[in-house]
Amino acid sequence: MTDPSCDPTAEAARRRTFAIISHPDAGKTTLTEKFLLYGGALGKEAGTVKARGGRRSATSDWMDLEQQRGISITSTVLQFNYSDRVVNLLDTPGHRDFSEDTYRVLAAADAAVMVLDAAKGIEPQTLKLFEVCREREIPFLTFINKWDRPGKGPLELLDEIEETLVVEPTPVTWPVGIPGDFRGVIHRGTGAYTRFERTARGATMAPEEEVDAEQAATDEGESWTTAAEEVELLNELGRTVDTKTFLAGESTPLFFGSALTNFGVRFLLDGVIDLVPSPAPRQLADGSRRALDAPFSGLVFKVQAGMDKAHRDRIAFVRVCSGRFERGITAVADRTKRQFSTKYAQTMFGQDRDTVDDAYPGDVLGLVNANDLRVGDAVYLDGPNAPSSGFPELPAFAPEHFMRARVKDTSKFKQFRKGVAQLDEEGAIQVLRDEDLGDQAPVLAAVGPMQFEVATYRLENEFGAPIELTATPYTIARKTDDASAPALNAMQGVSVLSRHDGTRLALFESKYWMDRVLADHPDLTLSRMVAEGGLN
Ligand code: G4P
Repeated sequence: MTDPSCDPTAEAARRRTFAIISHPDAGKTTLTEKFLLYGGALGKEAGTVKARGGRRSATSDWMDLEQQRGISITSTVLQFNYSDRVVNLLDTPGHRDFSEDTYRVLAAADAAVMVLDAAKGIEPQTLKLFEVCREREIPFLTFINKWDRPGKGPLELLDEIEETLVVEPTPVTWPVGIPGDFRGVIHRGTGAYTRFERTARGATMAPEEEVDAEQAATDEGESWTTAAEEVELLNELGRTVDTKTFLAGESTPLFFGSALTNFGVRFLLDGVIDLVPSPAPRQLADGSRRALDAPFSGLVFKVQAGMDKAHRDRIAFVRVCSGRFERGITAVADRTKRQFSTKYAQTMFGQDRDTVDDAYPGDVLGLVNANDLRVGDAVYLDGPNAPSSGFPELPAFAPEHFMRARVKDTSKFKQFRKGVAQLDEEGAIQVLRDEDLGDQAPVLAAVGPMQFEVATYRLENEFGAPIELTATPYTIARKTDDASAPALNAMQGVSVLSRHDGTRLALFESKYWMDRVLADHPDLTLSRMVAEGGLN
């Protein structure tokens, strides 16, 4: 390529694509907003992602339902420049509940930032998301947030991370002052002490002042002595950032701060730039890798319909994996081998959309009205010798909630069937059918119960087919196959249902029962799915 600025390998090297994972209320939204502030994407003042005074505002809320509940259900991507790098922040849903979306976003990320509330440490959803990172071998940084409020001690938090996650925390910054009396941080790499000052709700960047050790000892007294001793201890224990173990998910670079007041946010963002790996050649199903400068390819990790009520459009979010994407190129999907238009490629910034003319590995595109695309599809540049992408399948996540759906008004059955098929294609919910009831009363299977609310709402509002959900006795599922299905179906407390792609799932009433079946019938196929079990 003649223009070096169009070289996909060089452009990929400038990209940092990551997601923030946290338990609700740990501060993900606040931190996202502060990243945008430091990235210059909000002008000089924060307050776009979250309105002051409690009610959330616009940046990633589109659906009425989201607005009614004041939550963000669907995920978007936020792109900004920082330090000559292009940062792609994938926004995982921040609600109290899981959906498969959350997991799939992680399939499009090169790393994660795990946000912990200093007072709460590791909470259930953090743990669940962490397990997904581990399964997908996604390295992660850790941000201990809310240090401006009383919480657990720093060494206690380190122990908790190590014991619960079996990952070694390697602090990059260390706090001076106990939680609730945050004075500043020592940067362990440089040894410099940076003192922070409060700004009103952190609307502007935190003023920072570097203070030498002697001065710090005089000013901060015992807080300084304690922190200095702790840093000494960490040095003796060799707890310093190690790229190799970080990339292997065995250690996590750790930062302390307060997103609300901006304490420590810049260090974290610098850490993202320094440590998050740039997009790498994607591994293919056969174990080889697709070079970054191979022709354009990408992965559909999310499909969202109804983002814009006025247009009723449908957007497929594609993470670019190789090559340079140029708007207007003709691409095909691996699954269908059908071409689709890329004329309406867009980038999203919350509700705002901009046409995107080109994109590189690590970037995320929204393809409007590429209606054939489904979650998990690999897409690539079409041409006479277009190599197929060879990407491995996205994993299916283990549903944990199962409800039977019926249309309330049978005259709306056609709309119901269409809507259910659409939600299934988007991966908004898994649709399982049994032979007897078929499309009449499919079982909707979800990772988190909020998926049912979204499905119910959308079937009624988008497709004009109000539904009735009834409970089923099932609580856990395993993948099975045609050979094992009849024997399983004949058992009490077990039911085998099928997905649209022919995958068979065996549903069990309890884990206890499933374990018994497994023990009594080792010959039956019952395989685990991603993010299953033991983490609730
Ligand atoms: P989430 O997206 O992870 O769910 O968390 P979010 O950022 O919405 O933060 C949850 C609450 O925690 C918010 O308070 C937010 O202001 C507060 N918070 C976030 N980071 C910090 C921090 O570093 N220090 C302190 N003290 N609080 C923090 P809220 O009362 O729910 O909302 P609001 O009234 O403050 O807007």
